[in-house]
Amino acid sequence: MKKLVVSTGAGISAESGISTFRDAGGLWENYPVMDVASHDGYVRNPELVHRFYNERRKALLKAQPNAAHRLLHALESEGWEVYVITQNVDDLHERAGSSRVMHLHGELMKVRATDDETKVYELRPDALETTPATIIDGHHVRPHIVFFQEAVPMFEPATALAEEADVFVIIGTSLVVYPAAALLQYVRRGVPVYYIDPNPAQVPAGVHVIRATATEGMRELFRILTGKEAQK
Ligand code: OAD
Repeated sequence: MKKLVVSTGAGISAESGISTFRDAGGLWENYPVMDVASHDGYVRNPELVHRFYNERRKALLKAQPNAAHRLLHALESEGWEVYVITQNVDDLHERAGSSRVMHLHGELMKVRATDDETKVYELRPDALETTPATIIDGHHVRPHIVFFQEAVPMFEPATALAEEADVFVIIGTSLVVYPAAALLQYVRRGVPVYYIDPNPAQVPAGVHVIRATATEGMRELFRILTGKEAQK
């Protein structure tokens, strides 16, 4: 089966009502990124960081996957082996049914032990608020998020997927955060690359830019890849 490798960013969840980071009114306009999403910020003020991610979890609970998430799942039934590599910490790809989702920057609904990063816990829907005092399974926990200044352990497996892609797709990312933005460099020469974004970043010549929102762009991509109209 042909491998479709899809790299998604905050833009794919925008139409689900989740704020992006760098658009006008985006999260980083209202919160100093180095306070709430960096390793140093976490060491300085862990309460603030917990509070920030508690708010993100509340917003995520109210959100539903949109047609772009659903159409990526639908391609799995159209002869494509679909791999989603997401910078997003939401779980909307999973809730839309995608079966192979890799999170580069962690997961909002999970926490991990501060003294053992291999111990990762899913938060219960009725206990989504955490503080530095929260103890699970005998461990203090922190958000299961890759903070700025921390390593991105899933990057290497992600590059292996990018190297195997028969078609590579980028959706809704400003391509400014590394190493995620570098994934494109691992795609083999000659492999078709599509980039769906209403306000796309500069990309190398040869990338097919679909200047559209994620849901409109995915409908177009669905047509291109299957020859059919999207039903979602
Ligand atoms: P950004 O906020 O940097 O970029 C959002 C992208 O989505 C922009 O290119 C927008 O044009 C696009 N966009 C906006 N609305 C859209 C829509 N309806 N459909 C499709 N695209 C739309 O978000 P990311 O590139 O994902 O990391 O940011 C990367 C990382 O920076 C995040 O994972 C996060 C952040 O700091 C961490 O916190 C570790």
